[in-house]
Amino acid sequence: MTAHFRRTLLDRATQPYRSAGSFAWHFARGKLKGDPVFFGLLELGLIPDAERLIDLGCGQGLLASWLLEARALHESGHWPAHWPAAPKVKDIWGLELMPKDVERARTALGDRARFAQGDICTADFGRTDVAVILDVLHYISYEAQEDVLRRIRAALPAGGTFITRIGDAAGGLPFSYSNWVDRTVFFLRGHRLDRIYCRTQKEWLDVLQRNGFAAEPLPMHKGTPFCNVMLVAKAV
Ligand SMILES: C[S@@+](CC[C@H](N)C(=O)[O-])C[C@H]1O[C@@H](n2cnc3c(N)ncnc32)[C@H](O)[C@@H]1O
Repeated sequence: MTAHFRRTLLDRATQPYRSAGSFAWHFARGKLKGDPVFFGLLELGLIPDAERLIDLGCGQGLLASWLLEARALHESGHWPAHWPAAPKVKDIWGLELMPKDVERARTALGDRARFAQGDICTADFGRTDVAVILDVLHYISYEAQEDVLRRIRAALPAGGTFITRIGDAAGGLPFSYSNWVDRTVFFLRGHRLDRIYCRTQKEWLDVLQRNGFAAEPLPMHKGTPFCNVMLVAKAV
């Protein structure tokens, strides 16, 4: 059942990207299938029900598509019995720097989620119950990382959820390999990247703590050669 279910969810979450062009569809298939973070979020029940979820640096909106289809499948009774319920999120808002990605997200998902073009270093996050940042923070300076974390904390209620995935700079060869892949893909997607701003897992936990979060690390690179860690934080 689970293998069939995984295939169904993957098909449904990627189908909307057909309308956004061949690149968008192939990218969605590759990422949602190959990156353990997407199934991991559901299998581990990391995202709670929420009125509002913000996805900062959302790319072409894959997380939104994933969560929308997961919930639709759950509501139709098609859901693995041993998985936690799919989160019910009323309003998903994605913020992304690259206009092309925003366009793809809007074309694919229409009014099922909202997407804005902007910079997480300056945009107003409003109020939210859940904030997610997957593989983005290392692109901005150390000062900007702290400022973004401070503003996310201000946007959340006490007990609100913040989930981020980072590379652990103490991760040796797998970390160096992730950086190399990351830089190459970033360049191919049209970004200029002078440097990246990495920290060890311990440094990330410290920076989260001093900005008002209690966080737990979860390895999130199963089946890949990378050294990525999911930090699941609650606003204190
Ligand atoms: C590795 S991709 C991850 C995309 C998405 N979070 C996912 O997991 O599919 C990093 C994304 O962050 C975006 N990004 C980088 N710096 C940003 C910034 N300052 N503000 C908004 N988005 C940014 C990039 O354009 C890119 O789409």
